[in-house]
Amino acid sequence: MAERKVTIGVLGAGHVGAHVAYALGMMGIADVVKICDPKEAKAVSERQDLMDAVYFMPHRVDYQLADYASLADCDIIINAVGDITLCATGSRDDEMHYTVRQVAETIPKVMAGGFDGIFINITNPCDVVTHLIAEKSGLPKGRVFGTGTLLDSSRLISAIAQQTGIEHHSFNAFMMGEHGDRQMIPWSLVNFRGKPLAQMEKDPRFQFDKEAVRTQTIKAGWVTYSGKFCTEYGICSAAATLARAVLHDERKIFPASVPLDGEYGESGIFCGVPALIGKNGVEEVMEYELPADEMAEFKACCETVRANIARAAALLGK
Ligand code: LAC
Repeated sequence: MAERKVTIGVLGAGHVGAHVAYALGMMGIADVVKICDPKEAKAVSERQDLMDAVYFMPHRVDYQLADYASLADCDIIINAVGDITLCATGSRDDEMHYTVRQVAETIPKVMAGGFDGIFINITNPCDVVTHLIAEKSGLPKGRVFGTGTLLDSSRLISAIAQQTGIEHHSFNAFMMGEHGDRQMIPWSLVNFRGKPLAQMEKDPRFQFDKEAVRTQTIKAGWVTYSGKFCTEYGICSAAATLARAVLHDERKIFPASVPLDGEYGESGIFCGVPALIGKNGVEEVMEYELPADEMAEFKACCETVRANIARAAALLGK
């Protein structure tokens, strides 16, 4: 008896959406990838290009064109709708002038088709748009979340690996807060296989410049954007990795844009926090004891997200 095919929808066939669709194939995650973009010519060309790559993928993938209603049978829909040119201002927040209206219009059409799976949002401003998708979809808590600070965490890990020479998976470090320039590093939680950074810093072999690491991490997206006017590989890998965690019920802890419902004293927003990701999406939000200075930085992020949620609501005339 043929097993049900793992089906993932990608909303938006721009730079990011197309690369997500490719990663889902190359990482052997999906059996069917449905590409949904009103710019039909772009969707047709991306599908063709992806079908040309299937021969080289770990297993057969069927790339299909889809309208909003035919996304109903997807296990997961990854939202990558956007107008990356709006980031030319140097702020991801400015994409909301396009993305908020697009998403507010699109999600009800997808839900009208009967979708009852999980949304993973990439679209910026990520925490704000994830909150909007949760609101517009009405899906149960946890079934909508965003890539959030997972991409930023991979940038932080890369910066620490470059500075210390230690391999990416041999230490624990992540970004928290908004997927934006106010994101913060909970240095108190950084450890090298359990040895806290504070102890490592006493060892001259592992000295590294925290401010240089923080700057390199936060600027990374802009370094990429400045030459290619988009980012692709890091973000598509982050989204595909989260999708795999859901599909395999990995119950893996990843920083992501997740709903806060009292954690860290915050409610009613989505923000970048480590959470347990499994078959139901966000299974549990991880709450850490943070020192006062780090908690203050994190709560400043939450205030930024809260203010941007209000800006988005105003744009929608709410
Ligand atoms: C970045 C985009 C995805 O940081 O916001 O690369």
